Amino acid sequence: MALRTQLSGWQAVEQHAETMKSQHMKDLFANDKERFQKFSLSLPSMLFDYSKNLVDETTMQALFQLARECELEAWRDKMFRGERINITEDRSVLHVALRNRSAEPLLLDGVDVRAQVKNELNKMQAFTETVRSGKWLGYTGKAITDIVSIGVGGSNLGPQMTTEALKSYGDGTLNVHYVSNVDGNQVADVLAPLNPETVLFVVSSKTFTTSETMTNANTAVNWLLASATDKSAIAKHFVAVSTNTDKVTEFGISEDNIFDMWDWVGGRFSLWSAIGLPIALYLGFEQFIELLDGAHIVDNHFENTPLEQNMPVIMALLSLWNCTFLGAQSQAILPYDQPLHRLTAYLQQAEMESNGKHVNMSGEKVPYPTVPTIWGEIGINGQHAFYQYLHQSNNIVPADFIGSVTSVANVAGHHDILMANFFAQSEAMMAGVSEEEIRADLASKGHNQAYIDSVAPHKVHEGNRPTNTILMDRLEPKTMGMLIALYEHKIFTQGILLDICSFDQWGVELGKGLANQIHHEIAANQVSEHHDCSTASLVSYYNDNK
Ligand code: F6P
Repeated sequence: MALRTQLSGWQAVEQHAETMKSQHMKDLFANDKERFQKFSLSLPSMLFDYSKNLVDETTMQALFQLARECELEAWRDKMFRGERINITEDRSVLHVALRNRSAEPLLLDGVDVRAQVKNELNKMQAFTETVRSGKWLGYTGKAITDIVSIGVGGSNLGPQMTTEALKSYGDGTLNVHYVSNVDGNQVADVLAPLNPETVLFVVSSKTFTTSETMTNANTAVNWLLASATDKSAIAKHFVAVSTNTDKVTEFGISEDNIFDMWDWVGGRFSLWSAIGLPIALYLGFEQFIELLDGAHIVDNHFENTPLEQNMPVIMALLSLWNCTFLGAQSQAILPYDQPLHRLTAYLQQAEMESNGKHVNMSGEKVPYPTVPTIWGEIGINGQHAFYQYLHQSNNIVPADFIGSVTSVANVAGHHDILMANFFAQSEAMMAGVSEEEIRADLASKGHNQAYIDSVAPHKVHEGNRPTNTILMDRLEPKTMGMLIALYEHKIFTQGILLDICSFDQWGVELGKGLANQIHHEIAANQVSEHHDCSTASLVSYYNDNK
């Protein structure tokens, strides 16, 4: 297989990028009144505007041509069919099957995946209804009031981000808390106000070997048994979500209390499986299904729409264009919906763990940067912190602006102000303001020439900074499902365009192994001579002073 850089489509885009670098988006807008119509798309309840990118029709055609040369459509179809496209782990990639509730069988090694998903959804439904109706009783016969979800990475970020995003759709039946960090401060803070008689722990770990999660789960058991004393209480207060039944039962959680997931669900794409149980417990099962249905709308769109009108494909192509061809090194995610305040953290894992790779599918080093650094913050807070950098630094940072037409919180007067900022920032990033305009403005305000000369260059905004705008009608379970699925398919597409395996995460293993070893050295108060002198001295300092 040819390296991506050898493809004629790649080379054509590269050449075309050189001509586009001398263009300014302001002129592209001035010369084409139809630009918004040409470079925007909509799905039910969602508008996507990508006209504020440094692209023209030739750019987009060249990018679609490249996508075809990369056989994107064939790879997409392989994913939906359940082929083992996670080549380094020899697994299928089927998170799309988790939200497809059609009855048509999907066979994987002779087993109908859809039937498995349906069974697990039925089990989740029965369980959430039992807990939410107060029929699930703790060891003293009291109903559950609080859920504590223990998990990290994909077993935490998706559920926590979504629970926060949809907080106002909860009915207050249950409180849901999350513990992800092995830093004891977090578990101590979460447990301190809770009553062990009314807490249910959901231990979520695909592998059930993640040391941070196991440590927190053991602490939770000890906390429960400090008041319950009889170990039979564990069955009433602990459930687990995992692929590893042996490890879960070894831990002490009975088989009845295990929710299954499968190796064809990647951790960072797992919130749609029983890993999403805390979401269902918080919102109620019906709203969890709406979330799945929202994602399924986007799955259908991604699977069946020509590349030219395909939203996640265009998002991925623009990311490739901005980063690999125009040289941007990072990508900002800027939600203008307070409930989306964990979205950036979620997307950091989804995108950077998926595509932060250095070799292609054949194991050859890739000669181009892969995924940009994903960062960001709730828009208004960002405006008063780092937008200076977005507008004037020498590093161009493409940004996704995400907002809603209607606010979930109906507080008089706020939403229009929020959204005025939302629209203003991407306009400013695109258009900028020239030195000429600054000088004219200062002169019209009566400033003297010396002042104008000294300050004008500092006030220039060069503009020409690419942004996408995603405008939802309203943040609700369905649109939330759509939004997350859009990014999932964007990430998949990026992986194919870059020729990298987006579904493994070998890069987390080295640090994990070393941490394990150093933990033993700390326990034995003996630092191995195999460490470099910096690490050895740091660990010794820690041991000597703790
Ligand atoms: O260390 C990274 C990682 O493997 C993620 O990919 C995963 O989401 C997370 O750890 C948690 O893994 P598990 O669900 O197996 O505990």
